[in-house]
Amino acid sequence: MADLSTPPDVPATNDDQAPAPIVTPWEVSGIIDYDKLISQFGSRPISPELLARFEALTGHRPHLFLRRGIFFSHRDLEALLNNYEAGKKFYLYTGRGPSSTALHLGHLVPFIFTAYLQKVFNVPCVIQLTDDEKFLFAKQQKGDKPPPPIEHFMGLARENAKDIIAVGFDPAKTFIFSDTSYIASLYLNVLRIQRITTYNQARAIFGFTDSDNIGKHAFPAVQAAPSFSTSFPVVLGGAVDIPCLIPCAIDQDPYFRLTRDAAPRLNYLKPALIHSKFFPALQGDNTKMSSSLAESAIFLDDTPKKIKTKVNKYAFSGGRETVEEHRRLGGNVDVDISYRYLTFFLEDDEKLEHIRAAYSSGEMLSGEIKAELIKVLQPIVANHQTRRSEVSDQVLDQFFAIRPLEF
Ligand code: TYM
Ligand code: TRP
Repeated sequence: MADLSTPPDVPATNDDQAPAPIVTPWEVSGIIDYDKLISQFGSRPISPELLARFEALTGHRPHLFLRRGIFFSHRDLEALLNNYEAGKKFYLYTGRGPSSTALHLGHLVPFIFTAYLQKVFNVPCVIQLTDDEKFLFAKQQKGDKPPPPIEHFMGLARENAKDIIAVGFDPAKTFIFSDTSYIASLYLNVLRIQRITTYNQARAIFGFTDSDNIGKHAFPAVQAAPSFSTSFPVVLGGAVDIPCLIPCAIDQDPYFRLTRDAAPRLNYLKPALIHSKFFPALQGDNTKMSSSLAESAIFLDDTPKKIKTKVNKYAFSGGRETVEEHRRLGGNVDVDISYRYLTFFLEDDEKLEHIRAAYSSGEMLSGEIKAELIKVLQPIVANHQTRRSEVSDQVLDQFFAIRPLEF
């Protein structure tokens, strides 16, 4: 039960009286102190020693998301690496809730990282598209409009899979499934998890209320089930003891606290996790980029011109009121969104450091750091669009096919 001891609805205490931040699978707000989140959730920070271990094992320099602390927290990663070193391969599991046609830049973060892990560890990967979740959790629409039908979310799942494939997963080692199409294979584990999870537990973790529909209460078992290798009798060959590693942003952790609590009671291995921070909204650091707020996000189908306009118009600036003041005091990289985005997407460490130094000394102006960001983002998004356009129906079917993955 230890994992469930801190429900996310207990707010982290804040020294400065700012409203306590909220981090749940469906809401992220407030100024997040990631160190506090680690102690509140009971996960572990990714230490320099762990990074060194990572490098020694893979023979690769750690990904910039690791070097720069974007993936910052984990559960049981050491144990997973120990087993890997001893020759025990694991599989990767991640997912997406198909709620909008286009993904935004923030959604890319866990997928880019998962594809990288697949490559350096040479392991299989399963990707869950929770069309059922998004159907059950869809907000009441305005006026008398009925909520979107399940078919709507099934269609989005297929559309979103194209974006995920475009990130660069290996077709021989990657299985993508939507819950509505794969549920029969998951169902035995879903039942086992449901049988041992009480209503009180689900409520404490997710904050469900009596007027939420019953589908919501049952859903967490569906997101938990792919953490166990027996949910993939064909795809992973059905062995009971293949360890699982789940990369995700930290908002998904509540699902996996429940999963890890259930595991030993089912004689299954607890999945290991690696958590990322949030890619912030254009408006500033105190919220995550979200598809439901169009001006908060850069979407993967935005044109180069739109990216330029959004960055120039909305990207929160750490620059000063006037040029004179900026030259004298320098820009504040701690709150500047352009700088923050560069830390996610500018690969060159030296160039990033140069920009940081120039901007904080006042040598570089807000307009100039925005121009740097636009120059970095435009080709990333354009290249993504090219790769996405190459994902045909046939390629999609290949990834969705239930077949043994290469180990
Ligand atoms: P969803 O669709 O809300 O988000 C998909 C993945 O993207 C991460 N994410 C972000 N990462 C960084 N910055 C952001 N601004 C940002 N917004 C979202 C999420 O943490 C997630 O990793 N219920 C899940 C789908 C799911 C899943 C999983 C996720 C099913 N199984 C296993 C992770 C692992 C959902 O609705 O994700
Ligand atoms: N973000 C969704 C909304 O707008 C809900 C949601 C996303 C959700 N992921 C979730 C709800 C996980 C519960 C669990 O309402």
